[in-house]
Amino acid sequence: MLSKYHWWRDAVIYQVYVRSFLDSTGDGIGDLAGVRAGLPYLKKLGVDGIWLSPFYPSPQHDHGYDVADYCGVDPLFGDLAEFDLLMAAARRLGIRVLLDIVPNHCSSEHPWFRAALAAEPGSPARARFHFADGRGPDGSEPPNNWHAMFGGPAWTRADDGQWYLHMFTPEQPDWNWRDPEVAAEFDRVLRFWLDRGVDGFRIDVAAGLYKHPELPDSDDPEADARTRDSVNPLAWNQPEVHDVWRWWRAVCEEYTVRDGRERLLVGEVSVPTAREHALYVRPDELHQAFFFDLLGAPWEADAFRKVISEAMEDIAGTGSTVTWVLNNHDQVRTVTRYGEPATEGSGLGPARARAAALLMLALPGAAYIYQGEELGLPEVVDLPDDVLTDPIFRRTGSRARIRDGCRVPLPWSGQASPFGFTSGAESAKPWLPQPEYFAEYATDRALADTRSFWHLYRDGLQLRASLPQLGEGTLRWLDTPPGVLAFTRGDGLVCAVNFGTAPTPAPVSGTPLLSSGPCPPGVLPAATAGWWLADTGL
Ligand code: NOJ
Repeated sequence: MLSKYHWWRDAVIYQVYVRSFLDSTGDGIGDLAGVRAGLPYLKKLGVDGIWLSPFYPSPQHDHGYDVADYCGVDPLFGDLAEFDLLMAAARRLGIRVLLDIVPNHCSSEHPWFRAALAAEPGSPARARFHFADGRGPDGSEPPNNWHAMFGGPAWTRADDGQWYLHMFTPEQPDWNWRDPEVAAEFDRVLRFWLDRGVDGFRIDVAAGLYKHPELPDSDDPEADARTRDSVNPLAWNQPEVHDVWRWWRAVCEEYTVRDGRERLLVGEVSVPTAREHALYVRPDELHQAFFFDLLGAPWEADAFRKVISEAMEDIAGTGSTVTWVLNNHDQVRTVTRYGEPATEGSGLGPARARAAALLMLALPGAAYIYQGEELGLPEVVDLPDDVLTDPIFRRTGSRARIRDGCRVPLPWSGQASPFGFTSGAESAKPWLPQPEYFAEYATDRALADTRSFWHLYRDGLQLRASLPQLGEGTLRWLDTPPGVLAFTRGDGLVCAVNFGTAPTPAPVSGTPLLSSGPCPPGVLPAATAGWWLADTGL
């Protein structure tokens, strides 16, 4: 299985948010040994690979997206020996492993940044970052008006009066990719992990890295903070970044030539249009880039149809495949997101999330599942302020409660927290509190109940693996009434979704393969999706 060339084109990858997956040491924080212990569970689910959120040494100001040492393991999560054991176990099970690499910025504790702070203005040590003099008579104004994504200005003043740029928090200084030493260092980092056997990388902020060379003022300085999308055209999506992805792709190819195993680069690419997105997955650049428009689409047939059609036209048009995603560690979980407004009915969120899962797994291309999605976990919306750790909360003056609610540690078993998440004593406390109702979602219950989300995902993945129509390829829309989407995949496989609130006639007659909820013959109930093998050619 591990030798299939182009395996990534329709792979299903499971995102492991390491600190919330499974804790083997009893400190309330998930770790690499926990991931290793959970691999058989993931094998049973049927995913092709895992993406591990950052586990490198880090002060954890942004849960590891502030890296102090790119080639190590933070003692919170284990050590390199444990990493090697995890790799070996994954290899034995045929599960591929992707690491999360963070090239746009590092931690303010990274030795190179500390050296830069200690060095003179204009020194080579400072050239690895963006240091600049301030404006105003005494230089006390930031060098430009850019906003950081997580709130506040994008510049912080160093002790000697110069300012440094950080597009996220002040603890995450941005690298200056115009300095050749930075590029060379990342080449070394890639090879370090490739030599340890990894199957590829998820690239954080892959439309970042380069800034406009003159760092001019932006016309709309608040835009990044307002949208939480990287939209400042001077700070993101610069043409030079594509050279980096060509370089990294060449490094991956070098390893493939050596051992026949194809490595995967998947970018976190937030750019304004599908057409610009497509530039990142040209044949000599990234293999995949998350297509976030699906995740961003409201629960409406027209909205889904539009983003899917655009993706198929613009991205599949490059020769790559689309990389679909509905959930990740930065977004409100689908069960809760699709349940808004709650007045429409309490069961709607879960029903729609199940339907969206079947839709995603039927689309041509690759898909990512975020841990807990396969359990139908809702967002934990009522965490008290004093446990919130997301820097966005702190940096927006406690206004934006965005990312903790989807990061609550997974429930594995039992009736009370920690629900088997930590191997420590009953009293061991997960790093974020788990609500009592997590008992309903624990993996042991999910596996025992054939109506659970888990079985829907498992059955969907099994069918995906066995039916030639699914995975890579094209889709063709069928005529459907408003509020309903249906498309064919290859030879007679039909996926239909009813986005509405009333049942509709099933848009196809044929053999039902799988549905996200009960489907009486000939009917597609509200907020339900199904897969059929059509009786007649379509
Ligand atoms: C995107 C990551 O998904 C997010 O969690 C992180 O905070 C930012 N990049 C900054 O690294």
